[in-house]
Amino acid sequence: MTSRPHWLADSQVRPLLERFGSPLYVYHEPTLRQRLRELVGLVGHGPFHASISVKANGNPHLLSIAREEGLRGDAMSPGEILLLERAGFTAKDIFFIPNNVSESELRFAHDRGILTSLDSIDQLRTWAEAFPGSRVALRVNPLVGDGHHEKVVTAGERAKFGIVPSELDQARSILAESGITLVGLNQHIGSGFLEPSRYLAAASTLLSIAESFPQLEFVDFGGGFGIPYREHESRLDLGLLGRSLDTMLRDWMRKNNRSIEVGIEPGRYWCAECGALLGTVFAVKPRGEGAIAGTDLGFNVLQRPAMYDAYHRIDLVAVQDVDRPTVPVTWAGNICESGDILGADRQGSLPRPGDLVRVRDAGAYGWAMSSSYNARPRAAEVLVGADGEPLLIRHRETWEDLMRGVA
Ligand SMILES: Cc1ncc(COP(=O)(O)O)c(C=O)c1O
Repeated sequence: MTSRPHWLADSQVRPLLERFGSPLYVYHEPTLRQRLRELVGLVGHGPFHASISVKANGNPHLLSIAREEGLRGDAMSPGEILLLERAGFTAKDIFFIPNNVSESELRFAHDRGILTSLDSIDQLRTWAEAFPGSRVALRVNPLVGDGHHEKVVTAGERAKFGIVPSELDQARSILAESGITLVGLNQHIGSGFLEPSRYLAAASTLLSIAESFPQLEFVDFGGGFGIPYREHESRLDLGLLGRSLDTMLRDWMRKNNRSIEVGIEPGRYWCAECGALLGTVFAVKPRGEGAIAGTDLGFNVLQRPAMYDAYHRIDLVAVQDVDRPTVPVTWAGNICESGDILGADRQGSLPRPGDLVRVRDAGAYGWAMSSSYNARPRAAEVLVGADGEPLLIRHRETWEDLMRGVA
């Protein structure tokens, strides 16, 4: 099967690796801006805002492009708040959505004037004791979950996130007793859907809950928007999703005779497709009908395949123009774990040592989840602008970086 063309041509891979080293994360600004604009235009009815979830990619250069395009940011930790601030976001554009954090982390956001969402009765109690009379949001678990793998379903009976509907009365009493105003309800049901029916069902549940909170200023339906990692997958129909949300909101506003602001907070969608991971083949072993291609793309660099069997298209960028048989290729990394497999049994040309590799759609949960496991410094990141010029936006870690913090 011929692959869809990629924004990074095969001929550009080698010069980038020669200049910046291997492995390397590369991002494409035009693709990034296109996805951000699609999100900003999702909902047409009533007040609407789109936020980016920093957890998917926290490079401040990319975050500041998102800010320029008019998006806000949501953060899960003080560190993510600092990344947003570094990119120029101010308190009014940051939404803090932590899970199971200390009072001091809550205070970190409170003292900066950042709106915070509490996701359990216990965290709400902690907040209420510390900051009576303040304004908060609550994260609801609508008991409808979705996602590309069980490990990324974030709502439902057994999910660790959110306040379930049967706990809302308790939340209401705590809010009333401490004079706290509830200004928002948010949720996030899971990650990676390409068909929006469960997202829409959960949005409708959240809107029904919102009916009983008259002071509410906004509802945030969360992220989860999938992208077509596999060649045959179709894109999520954002037009359909947006129109369905518009209709739902129009009906809600008519019925309740009031307006309400709506937010979304995708992580994967804003940055997955603008990112590619480049690497190098160092050893090829014939095995069975095919081969194991050994690369520098271990799960320290891209964790998703090892963590939840995530699929990324892997393109061989052959440096020598020789005839190669088509065989099943298993792509492995250089980490000392047998699970260090980037993709198994992919039918393709037989790689040779010295060949290069392009992993597609690696911009979300790529560098952000990478680690220095096996004492390997983390990769560099480069941003390619509309003019095709690469800009180094994160230095490769050094061995000295690995020693930082050793007491
Ligand atoms: C609260 C919240 N919002 C947004 C996201 C972003 O998810 P996604 O990358 O699937 O859009 C997550 C991911 O876990 C989340 O927990």
